[in-house]
Amino acid sequence: ALKERKSRSIGLVIPDIENPFFPSLVRGAEDAARQQGYAVILCNTDGNAVEEDRYIQFLFSKQVDGILFIGGIESQGNLEMLADLPVPVVTLDRRAATGKLSAVVYDNYQGAILAVEHLIKTGRKKIAFISGPLKSSSSIDRRRGFNDTLDKFSLPVNEKLTFVGNYSFDSGYQAIKELIEKKESFDAIFAANDMMAIGAIEALLEASIRVPEDIAIVGFDDIRLAFWHKPSLTTVRQPAYEMGQAAVAMLIKQMSSTSAEVLEQKFLPELIVRKSTENQG
Ligand code: RIB
Repeated sequence: ALKERKSRSIGLVIPDIENPFFPSLVRGAEDAARQQGYAVILCNTDGNAVEEDRYIQFLFSKQVDGILFIGGIESQGNLEMLADLPVPVVTLDRRAATGKLSAVVYDNYQGAILAVEHLIKTGRKKIAFISGPLKSSSSIDRRRGFNDTLDKFSLPVNEKLTFVGNYSFDSGYQAIKELIEKKESFDAIFAANDMMAIGAIEALLEASIRVPEDIAIVGFDDIRLAFWHKPSLTTVRQPAYEMGQAAVAMLIKQMSSTSAEVLEQKFLPELIVRKSTENQG
């Protein structure tokens, strides 16, 4: 059995609270934790393995009752370490490949397929792709979904239309600015998250390219701004708040259980169609 810890606190390790996907997730986790009498200690790591390691040690020394961890393949060493700690751990959002840790996951691969199929079915054929960081599992799965869907419809994957961003507004903006400067021809963009999609739209508008008349675009996450942005953004919805809640519920279940059973809950993707992909035909 796990030794009882009594700080009534939960550590929540995330990449970056400035990315608008995470506040909803954090809020879901905090609300669920508070209802059960736990406080949340928030730690931002920028997905950096050294920072993650430091925070894990810190949280453990503070006697937290459990840890929620958003890492990814770049965090493999830390995930192994977490699996060996005598404290319950739930990983979420980005996949933990240890098989030893409980996880709340999202089907990023299917989500990307929904996005790209939608672009193809609305008549777009030359689709640019802005991926997230290469070592992040959410980004790897979305890229795989993008490539496989082009393949399925016998469309070539054009490396000149493929960019690596870092899930920030700026990286989406830069990618499309570059694409426009190189005068590459494209009729759609799939961005691996909404912030990059909104940055991309900014670059298009700056060059007097219209969305969706000239270029259609799909994002990923469904942050609040996707709804309010002009034009509103078609996107793959992730229920970030519910994922945060679910992770806390799973963690609390583990705290009170004596078995070392590894749990998994999977959230399924949903495409939200808005103006940015409106059909022009
Ligand atoms: O916007 C941040 C992204 O990083 C999200 O799509 C989330 O799934 C994460 O991995």
